[in-house]
Amino acid sequence: MTTPVTREITPFDGQKPGTSGLRKKTKVFMLDGYVEAFVQSIFDAIEGCEGKTFVVGGDGRYFNAEAIQTILRMAAANGAARCIVGQGGLLSTPAASNLIRQREANGGLILSASHNPGGIDEDFGLKYNTANGGPAPESVTERIFENTKTISRYMTLETPDLDLSALGEVALGDMVVEVVDPVTDYAALMETLFDFDAIRALIAGGFAVKFDAMHAVTGPYAHEILENRLGAPKGTVLNGEPKVDFGKGHPDPNPIWAKPLVDMVMSEGGPDFAAASDGDGDRNMILGKGVYVTPSDSLAVLAANAHLAPGYKRGLAGVARSMPTSRAADRVAEKLEIGCYETPTGWKFFGNLLDAGKATLCGEESAGTGSDHVREKDGLWAVLLWLNVLAVRKMSVGDILLDHWQTYGRNYYSRHDYEAVETDKANAVVDGLVARLGDLAGTEVAGLTVEEADQFSYLDPVDGSVSEKQGVRMMFRGGSRAVLRLSGTGTEGATIRVYLERYMPAEGDLQIETQAALAEIVQAVEELTQLREKTGRAEPDVMT
Ligand code: G6P
Ligand code: ZN
Repeated sequence: MTTPVTREITPFDGQKPGTSGLRKKTKVFMLDGYVEAFVQSIFDAIEGCEGKTFVVGGDGRYFNAEAIQTILRMAAANGAARCIVGQGGLLSTPAASNLIRQREANGGLILSASHNPGGIDEDFGLKYNTANGGPAPESVTERIFENTKTISRYMTLETPDLDLSALGEVALGDMVVEVVDPVTDYAALMETLFDFDAIRALIAGGFAVKFDAMHAVTGPYAHEILENRLGAPKGTVLNGEPKVDFGKGHPDPNPIWAKPLVDMVMSEGGPDFAAASDGDGDRNMILGKGVYVTPSDSLAVLAANAHLAPGYKRGLAGVARSMPTSRAADRVAEKLEIGCYETPTGWKFFGNLLDAGKATLCGEESAGTGSDHVREKDGLWAVLLWLNVLAVRKMSVGDILLDHWQTYGRNYYSRHDYEAVETDKANAVVDGLVARLGDLAGTEVAGLTVEEADQFSYLDPVDGSVSEKQGVRMMFRGGSRAVLRLSGTGTEGATIRVYLERYMPAEGDLQIETQAALAEIVQAVEELTQLREKTGRAEPDVMT
């Protein structure tokens, strides 16, 4: 039956989009009507679908295929003209962003829980991106959330599932479903930004590269770009076959979850360069022989060197970073005399700056780096920009990093996460600190002096919107800083994130072990928050 039907539904609690869309346990998404309630709330929040074109795809995790079928039927029933879908339902998040822009779609529905594990007992997610290709701004996500509270009906078709394995167009009611190769347009975009000949020559000269796709969505992208187009030997891409449960792994490219790759570069005879990406392909981890590049440093190094790649040869308009990201990039922006912006956590806050041409590169401590080529962070893009810089500068990753610190100084940096903390305990830690903020200035703790402490609030310079309570900042004399905030992407209890930063000028000691360099700040945070005491945790679960 291709006539739209309207079905009654009652609202579900808690369909509140977080840092990056709605994230829940997969089984929650599988509840009868759950996807339908959220998707209809999205369609209602954007004033319907009549005549619109959407991009739909996801990272291939468990329930991706089923949710896509539901979305397509609902889009058709709500009057959409066309849905562009990645073959097999796959699209990396940056590739989806690119498709929305290239095809001038009205928006996109991206199915992913990013770096969270996948599977029936793990996580699922769904988010809406707007016509600029970026995550919907808070004004839209708030409207969606409001709708979820009162939703009473949704529209769908009673049609069988479509076959999304064959390229081409098929009709679904009055809507066209266009199945596209997920890689083609994205790879073409990369060729316009980077000097593929130079990278090919670097690799042909014996420069060894490894890329860990972590059984997630970047496998097909990396095979095509690194191996087929850039000539890297077969076997360069590890774990390149997407799996619904990511091979039971945790597809988060950090030294904990991508440990085998880190061990490889730290060992004798390891590759010259290694990288990994996450579930949906927007995060990156960069490694060189014996070195791990922190995401904050990666942003700074890329900002300082981006002009070496064709796509950025005219220089950068500005650099933007999320507040908890280290201020290493700020020093580069200052030297280049370009704009420098500090936004709340969440890629969506970069959208306006990119659209307005104020920022060209953006980055976050959470392993996200990207540019104005799309409106999402982009894992493979970061890998290719690094390779382009390495091909031009003909130095090792470690030497580029050292040279950077010797020029700008080093921002020692680490994030400590306390995961799945009981929500009331986590709130007590934050509330306790917030209550003391007024009298912290001047306090001496663990040999450090608090210079200033506040809650970060952001005034968007483009649309004038204000986002408050985006994390507590404690600035110490001498340029060190600690930030505390609760994660907006977790699905179990609360995750407390403590971001630690210590600045060392270029002429200081640039080679201290990171955790040792930050030990005093860790102690100061404990004294100011009693975090470990209040949560009963002796140590963080994750240190990046
Ligand atoms: C996602 C978002 C990022 C954000 C990260 C961490 O990857 O796209 O913009 O930085 O999550 O967010 P959280 O709220 O968990 O710290
Ligand atoms: Zn991601």
